[in-house]
Amino acid sequence: MFSFVIGSLHVNADTERSKGFDLKHGPIEQWYSAMAQKAEHMMQSNQLQNGAIIASPSRHEPDYYYHWTRDAALTMDAMLLPVRNGSSPKVTAEYAARAIKYLDFSLQTQRQESLSGSVESLRNLGEPKYYVDGRPFDGPWGRPQADGPALRALTVLRLLELAKENRDFAQGLGSSGVTLAQEVVRRDLQYVLLRWRDASFDLWEEVQGSHFYTRLAQYQALIAGAKYFTEKKDQNIAAKFQREVAAVKADLERFWSEDRGYILTTLDRSGGLDYKTSNLDSSVILAALHAAEVQENKLDIYGPLDDRILATAQELKTAFNRIYPVNNIRQSKGSSVFLEPGIGRYPEDRYDGVGSSEGHPWFLATMALSELHYRVAQQLDAKGSLVITQRNYAFFRDVSPSLFSPGQKTRTVSKKDSQWQALITDLIRAGDGYAERVRFHSGDDGALSEQFNRYSGFMRGARDLTWSYASVATAWHARKKALN
Ligand code: NOJ
Ligand code: NOJ
Repeated sequence: MFSFVIGSLHVNADTERSKGFDLKHGPIEQWYSAMAQKAEHMMQSNQLQNGAIIASPSRHEPDYYYHWTRDAALTMDAMLLPVRNGSSPKVTAEYAARAIKYLDFSLQTQRQESLSGSVESLRNLGEPKYYVDGRPFDGPWGRPQADGPALRALTVLRLLELAKENRDFAQGLGSSGVTLAQEVVRRDLQYVLLRWRDASFDLWEEVQGSHFYTRLAQYQALIAGAKYFTEKKDQNIAAKFQREVAAVKADLERFWSEDRGYILTTLDRSGGLDYKTSNLDSSVILAALHAAEVQENKLDIYGPLDDRILATAQELKTAFNRIYPVNNIRQSKGSSVFLEPGIGRYPEDRYDGVGSSEGHPWFLATMALSELHYRVAQQLDAKGSLVITQRNYAFFRDVSPSLFSPGQKTRTVSKKDSQWQALITDLIRAGDGYAERVRFHSGDDGALSEQFNRYSGFMRGARDLTWSYASVATAWHARKKALN
């Protein structure tokens, strides 16, 4: 069904469906499964007839009624989770139709010159957002943004992989759908290959320079591109991708700061905001999550288990815990459930969801911390051992204090140790604590906007932010895998 309806109608439908069950209370599993349904509906209703995916139905203060390449790619990927989890043939066909519309719309945007550049130079692809009729945005904006094409390449390549594994989905796409996907992905991959060194604006659309988030997405896109062309027996092109993979990998190493003990979000700043003095940013965690999907568990650097990612996660937790008064609330009323802190974009943030005053915690950043814990649990269990280093010590000490005897810091824990099961359980519990934080500040019907107020906890910023829902869907998926 391709509904043009937005927000409220589906909210009503959801309330109907979940009658007798209160989204605010009860076990977190129940919340997750109700929210996964809600997220599915909201992502669908934020996709328009022509395939465009709006960032939010809000058209005024703020106006988010645009198709952002980044938000849309992340949403399309999350939207296909039910297919990955084995939806019925009929539902699978509906999702394939949605994917085709998304691809159609994407191709339309790719074919136009934009303020980011010409079609021939491929620079046009760096344009961050499009009107819902497919025209590139033509007002002043932080452009280009280079993460979008890399993320879309990853989404489309995953979609093509899915078609190989799932006959119903393949049938729904048809050979024309596959051809369309290949055409879209070819341009995005080419853009990443040729342009990854160019300065760009970050995912928050504020700072110009080289960004960890963008670079890691590019790295993964190049790896996936090399694989794609190898499978197509196009060895020459595949080799070009391989060469750039090595170069990007070396470049990524620059972002770790041994002095500060975390990954820096931006290097080589050449424009935009200049007050991000800490250079600490939750986009580093988003990077590990968004990129790691491609080669689950095989991400050789900066995946969820990398001790530099975990060091950064710990710094973020500590920083935001201190900055946002709302994090002093540790418990949900009448329940013993512990709330982990609400997480924002970066400590110095001034964007309040409409204009510039002071920053607030974001649902999608808080869900990212949740998902990270589930992924760590799942990957550790698959691996069977954990080396505790100087870098990840503080993270694990917070999550699972019983791992350590007094004075002990570095050590190796393995599946054979008696504390192993507790470690895995503690990781999942911590992930749940961030989800509880999101639940605590969400609407009674499970609605999620972009942010929640750092003092009062009330929702603010764009209502029904598509990406907020996508972040719940992917966290839930990660949680299920961790429990398997
Ligand atoms: C709107 C952008 O979308 C947001 O990310 C940014 O913080 C503000 N403009 C301020 O530049
Ligand atoms: C502002 C965010 O900073 C940016 O990442 C996002 O793409 C847009 N809002 C649209 O959701």
